[in-house]
Amino acid sequence: MSGSHILRKQEPKKTVPERQFDCFAAVPRGAENLAAAELAALGCSGLVVLRGGVAFVTGRAGLYRANLWLRTASRVLVKLGEFPCQSPEELYQGVRRLPWTELITPSMTLAVDCSLRDSAMTHSGFVALKTKDAVVDSIRDACGSRPSVDTASPDLRINVHLSRNICSISLDSSGDSLDRRGYRLERNDAPLRETLAAAVVGLTGWDGTQSLVDPMCGSGTIPIEAALIATRTPPGLQRRFGFERWRDFDGRLWNGLQQEAHAGRGKLAAGVVTGCDRDGAALGIAHRNASNAGLRDRIGFCHGTLEEFKPAADRGVLIVNPPYGKRLGDIKQLEGLYRSIGDVMKQRCKGWTGYVLTGNLELAKLIGLKASRRHVLFNGPIECRLLQYDLY
Ligand SMILES: C[S@@+](CC[C@H](N)C(=O)[O-])C[C@H]1O[C@@H](n2cnc3c(N)ncnc32)[C@H](O)[C@@H]1O
Repeated sequence: MSGSHILRKQEPKKTVPERQFDCFAAVPRGAENLAAAELAALGCSGLVVLRGGVAFVTGRAGLYRANLWLRTASRVLVKLGEFPCQSPEELYQGVRRLPWTELITPSMTLAVDCSLRDSAMTHSGFVALKTKDAVVDSIRDACGSRPSVDTASPDLRINVHLSRNICSISLDSSGDSLDRRGYRLERNDAPLRETLAAAVVGLTGWDGTQSLVDPMCGSGTIPIEAALIATRTPPGLQRRFGFERWRDFDGRLWNGLQQEAHAGRGKLAAGVVTGCDRDGAALGIAHRNASNAGLRDRIGFCHGTLEEFKPAADRGVLIVNPPYGKRLGDIKQLEGLYRSIGDVMKQRCKGWTGYVLTGNLELAKLIGLKASRRHVLFNGPIECRLLQYDLY
């Protein structure tokens, strides 16, 4: 057999460029730069920081990774198309031009979410309905039958965003909001959203080497998010995502990314992350949440009041998320608590850096210490401050 084929000039291998997705990570306001840093660390490109989110470009693996790893984002949308839109007819025709037969079959279910701003069309329910009609009509015309609507748990969640008469149609790759890590099965009175708790820990710059304590930890969201960061555990390791039900879902790729994440998990010495609260029932929930998050015994929870709190180390990061109070009666009661936060930090936490997350700036003044930094963060519609106190 001649070996000439070995010497023959090799045809250059044709590589199919990986499909790139135009994405948008929705983020609580105030945490956009943190989310952008997370996306950059995940290798996403074309980052543009916007109010309430970050636009970026990535391939399929990057999209799966973003959902798995983003701690501060509430969902990741993948843009399908954008068009000018001032009327129901323009909306219907614009939606129909998109390649729905590649995305949904008659046996799948769909739901449409809509947000509107400064546009000729002002009724979000109507815009969602018209979008749904255009999608199901496209499928019925192509396949003879139509997909049905399931608002609770659809196979395909479609997002319509109409701003200044420009309509963006996206697929929601996250499904349930990314806040829902899967570890919180019970709720106490005022739990902090997981994404916001992660943003707070991110803004402190804590890296897992020092102590971190939350002496008013409630259901434990701040210590749990801190421990997930310290152990390099992706916040979404236990949950399902919208993209897992897409027609083009790549199960092998996804399993590989999950295995990689499991293998990369680190350890956290007991006693580094702790939380206390005066409410035993809230602490019970904190214990169960930590256990659900796979952090049983990694976080020390104790029953006690802030007024009697003494840190167990010489330095570290102390984070408190006290109640803000809505009614006047509550506010009178809380005045003493905010004064105590100041006293405890001043008298017992020398060498530490203290952080207070509050939505009530009048109460925050009663802390009586000068904040060295202030970050604005939104807890839903409530504008909050994360105040930093360097406690020399
Ligand atoms: C806004 S909630 C904290 C919520 C918490 N970040 C979470 O995600 O569940 C405030 C917490 O402070 C606790 N608290 C109020 N006064 C306290 C005090 N004097 N000492 C200790 N905890 C207190 C309450 O029991 C409540 O759990």
